[in-house]
Amino acid sequence: MGKRILTGIQPSGILHIGNYFGAMKASIELQEQNPGNTFLFIADLHSLTVNPKPDDLRMRVERLALDFLACGLDPEKTAFFRQSDINGVCELTWILNTITSLGLLERAHSYKDKVAKGFVPNNGLFSYPVLMAADILIYKSQLVPVGKDQKQHLEITRDIAIKFNQMYNKEVFTIPDPIISESVAVIPGTDGQKMSKSYNNTIELFGEEKAIRKKIMSIPTDSTPMEDPKDPDKCNIFALYKLFSSEQQIEEMAARYRAGNFGYGHAKQALFEAYMDFFAPMRKRREELLKDPAYIQEVLRKGAEKANEAAAQTLDEVRRTVGLR
Ligand code: ADP
Ligand code: TRP
Repeated sequence: MGKRILTGIQPSGILHIGNYFGAMKASIELQEQNPGNTFLFIADLHSLTVNPKPDDLRMRVERLALDFLACGLDPEKTAFFRQSDINGVCELTWILNTITSLGLLERAHSYKDKVAKGFVPNNGLFSYPVLMAADILIYKSQLVPVGKDQKQHLEITRDIAIKFNQMYNKEVFTIPDPIISESVAVIPGTDGQKMSKSYNNTIELFGEEKAIRKKIMSIPTDSTPMEDPKDPDKCNIFALYKLFSSEQQIEEMAARYRAGNFGYGHAKQALFEAYMDFFAPMRKRREELLKDPAYIQEVLRKGAEKANEAAAQTLDEVRRTVGLR
């Protein structure tokens, strides 16, 4: 059956093309590596640590599910579910909390960064990595693809699993290995910085056509006159254009920049068209899915059913091990 692969994504906002090329595309492609043994879940319990408005949280979870399915997630190959639908994740979190030292959590960068920025932490934010450990260990996951920022959380998961197994002298948990793709390029935003919802420089993944056009047309450029040759490698429009284009298209575009008589307005128009062409099949699929909300709920229900099966077995073993049965 191959190794069990699992990853989670927080429903933290409207997805942008940085999220798509930086994370989502790879998590969808996992289904081809190991169809039938891949788990992907929406980490709604983790999102509660920042106390979102209930309607916002609900909306984001639904949108995330819709957007992933539109982008090609195949629920036959990947079990796709909501974290909060899995019985036992919170119970396992509690049990793991009782063997996790404060020091281990106090060293977590992501916690320290938030506190340094002035965020007043709640206990949930502090024990965020323990919930994440429960997410991973409950399915006996072997491989966990995550971004670089989650590397330390994975190390904490491994520490917790090793400690538990040693403490009870039993190989209850599988020690997971992270898959960290160092090579993922940082996608630039409309201002040339890293695209991020915090910088107001995003191009939405499924934005409304008019709004996307407006966003692209307003990308700031230098004042090189239209007639002058331009260096494509210094242009943010070109950097974004590359995401959507074949080698040949990229070369042709670079030649146009260098030849002159090709203005930034033309480049923006080409970028807009490339964006629309690239996402056309996904947008079409999304329109279809929007007409059938029951289907999405059914996908998440089925995914949870599969995940719950695996979770129940582990939790039973854990309960026996610690003396709750
Ligand atoms: P944001 O920076 O907009 O708040 P998140 O932190 O919610 O985005 O990121 C969700 C996922 O998308 C993470 O795995 C992150 O690495 C990836 N991601 C976000 N922005 C980019 C980007 N500009 N380039 C590459 N990957 C990105
Ligand atoms: N903390 C992860 C993030 O913010 C999301 C996450 C929660 C996760 N539980 C997980 C990722 C388990 C991998 C495995 O990106």
